[in-house]
Amino acid sequence: MQHPYQHYLKEVLLDEATLQARIAQLGAQISHDYASSTSLILICILKGGVMFMTDLARKIDVPHEMDFMAVSSYGKGARSTNRNVRIDHDLTVGVTGKDVLIVEDIIDSGFTLSRVVEMLWTRKPTSLKICTLLDKPARRQVPMVVDYVGFTIEDKFVFGYGLDLDERFRNLPFVGVVDLDKLSHD
Ligand code: IMP
Ligand code: MG
Repeated sequence: MQHPYQHYLKEVLLDEATLQARIAQLGAQISHDYASSTSLILICILKGGVMFMTDLARKIDVPHEMDFMAVSSYGKGARSTNRNVRIDHDLTVGVTGKDVLIVEDIIDSGFTLSRVVEMLWTRKPTSLKICTLLDKPARRQVPMVVDYVGFTIEDKFVFGYGLDLDERFRNLPFVGVVDLDKLSHD
């Protein structure tokens, strides 16, 4: 029996052990960097960042808050960046005077995150940094300083571990490359 995701999978790019090992490293580094912070807050960018956030948070030993923000930049089925970033769900707590760490799944053009960063700075956090699991620097259109990067990857469309393929397969424990030929023949 083939699992439905296998039809769209070209190759596994980052397997579960590789992801988890790197997340443990990031957690240790963040714990070190924020050791003296008393107001750390992790902000997960939904929905893609959810798996990364929950695993990463468990590797951070500095007391911290969590909150969630949903923004949309990609429509269902669309493969290009829509420049109009929309806030679908805002934070439920204030970030003024806090050390904000944004937790994102992937940075592509940078449009989405640059808008989120711009908006969050207006709320006067003490600091604001970005932690992304994946970075596709070849696709960048908005210059961005990314403080923590799990993996730098090539310009390939990926899915799994929070990243969706038309809203499905976010639950896969690994990151896979999408077989775009299969996708277009469906
Ligand atoms: P950006 O605004 O172009 O940086 O887009 C970032 C958002 O696009 C990410 O948060 C993802 O939700 C989505 N995205 C970009 N590349 C991929 C990909 O390869 N697979 C799945 N989603 C992606
Ligand atoms: Mg996303």
